[in-house]
Amino acid sequence: MCGIIAYVGNKPAASVVLEGLKKLEYRGYDSWGIVALTNDLQQPFSVIKRIGKIGHINSDYINEAIKLESHTALGHTRWATHGGVTEQNTHPHLDCTGRIAVVHNGIVENYQQLRSELAGHGFVSQTDTEAIPHLIEHLMVKEGMSFVDAARKAAGMLQGRSAFVAVNSGTKQVVAARKGAPLILGVHENNDKEFFIASDVTAFLDHTNKVMYIDDNEMAVIDGRAAFFNLTTGNETVKRVVEIHWHRGHANKEGYDHFLIKEIMEQKDTLALAINQDDAKIMAVAEEIKAAYGTFFVGCGTAGKVCMAADYLFSKIAKKHVNSVVASEFGNYQDYLTPKTLMIPISQSGETADVLEAIDVAKSKNVKVISLLNVFGSTMMRMSDDFFMINAGAERAVVSTKATTAQLAVVMLLAYATAGKLQEGKLLLMNTAAAVNDMLNPRYDEHIKKLAALLSDRKDMFVIGRGINYPAALEAAIKMQETCYTNAQGLAGGELKHGPLALVEEGTPCIVLVANDETKSDILGNAMEVKARGGYIIGVSPENNEIFDYWLKVPDVGNASPIVNIIPVQILAYHVAVLRGCDPDFPRNLAKSVTVK
Ligand code: AGP
Ligand code: GLU
Repeated sequence: MCGIIAYVGNKPAASVVLEGLKKLEYRGYDSWGIVALTNDLQQPFSVIKRIGKIGHINSDYINEAIKLESHTALGHTRWATHGGVTEQNTHPHLDCTGRIAVVHNGIVENYQQLRSELAGHGFVSQTDTEAIPHLIEHLMVKEGMSFVDAARKAAGMLQGRSAFVAVNSGTKQVVAARKGAPLILGVHENNDKEFFIASDVTAFLDHTNKVMYIDDNEMAVIDGRAAFFNLTTGNETVKRVVEIHWHRGHANKEGYDHFLIKEIMEQKDTLALAINQDDAKIMAVAEEIKAAYGTFFVGCGTAGKVCMAADYLFSKIAKKHVNSVVASEFGNYQDYLTPKTLMIPISQSGETADVLEAIDVAKSKNVKVISLLNVFGSTMMRMSDDFFMINAGAERAVVSTKATTAQLAVVMLLAYATAGKLQEGKLLLMNTAAAVNDMLNPRYDEHIKKLAALLSDRKDMFVIGRGINYPAALEAAIKMQETCYTNAQGLAGGELKHGPLALVEEGTPCIVLVANDETKSDILGNAMEVKARGGYIIGVSPENNEIFDYWLKVPDVGNASPIVNIIPVQILAYHVAVLRGCDPDFPRNLAKSVTVK
């Protein structure tokens, strides 16, 4: 994954890059680095590299470290794939001469081969990335290529999804090559004043909302103006400046201690925003689902669980079978894809590499792609034939909450529309939004906080559900895993007795997601099986039950129960994380946007 931001212009470049990096930190926070161009021929680059998050580092700190008013700088925030989290492995990486600096996002799959071909070069890191500056150097020195030609040829030689930005201190040119990972160029009116290159527009939206899209297999060259070239042919491509009228929403904590709890509480409003869709479009897509020779919902992690929920919700509401596939496994289904297949990818970021690759597979079979998005202008949006915005607003915490429930709401609208009952579905979801608004009050939060205190020293947990609450149980387990590092297992209630029950000991917590539907008595029976073996039962349910040791009341909202059942577990995970001293906004080892396979 990682975030890239580069700046060329009249402002103090390192400070611009620093502020941009802070906005990209959701993409990775193992370490960060900045390189700025100097006017010193002996030492053409000034570099700073640090382990961990950028956090509150300010311009003074950077200016002190960089000690110059540079007008060209590149920055990188890393999520390590190759090589440990060390300063040596932190980007930027330089060539042997120290005149070419590179920041890179993604994986160079053939890096071992490249490194062995570049055997005489002095590699100082364990990264795949370091092959790039040395390769450019090699092509310039051994094959006499210009920096731009060498960068283009090098980009063509890289295997795997990636993007890089390179600067040459000699010519002061900057190149940005895109091969499967996002890069976007920010400019001013006349494409001649200042330039921003970033993994995501939010990194430079404070400066300009005018962009020129770098398409896949293309590179941009900044050399007084921005020019674009096809990576394969080298032919120049003509671009136009596009204005982006979009705000990611509030980007501060607004009085909350963490983004996570702020975003959980925002679900008071986001459900209502999610269902604010164009009815005619929902109906039209429902018709496409009915007519399709197979509809595939595809996503990863939490969004993947929403896809699984789609499978259950469509069965229950519309009596229609749809497929749910984990994006990284989608390739295995390619033989079932035809031009009459429909793909509905779901992704909060719209940049998840596994999802983008699945879309590539679908496109290669002429499958129509209609996505569920939260980030306007994302790569997924640009790859899709059509899309729905889920309207959750900026989700800054790595742990997804409000986007999840918004995705579920849009999936439900589609399911109800497929059943020919769109207005019924809308009404249910409007009532659910109102009920969630009531539920998310300070007393409810306090009640869950008390449970968090009881569970704070438990490292293990089960979460069980049945029917439409089985995917919800899997999602709830992810919340506990990533937020407070509880070894939570999500299970279909009926599966416990086939093995996992052996793990239940005195006091083992088990969250039971109950809905007032045909699964109720069975899931309560499964909870009894756990209780009989000493388990501690936490009931998430509209009604109390004598088998619950702790009851988390949720409104009775019929088929929308997965939405309301997930929310108390989100809050629980948050409070356990705080009690354990975990950072709820930046879980260890993760990143918000997973742009590597
Ligand atoms: C969310 O809590 C997770 N951190 C993660 O599973 C996430 O849902 C997944 O990486 C997919 O992200 P996307 O929605 O941006 O594609
Ligand atoms: N593969 C590179 C590394 O491990 C880049 C990872 C990233 O995208 O952050 O440094």
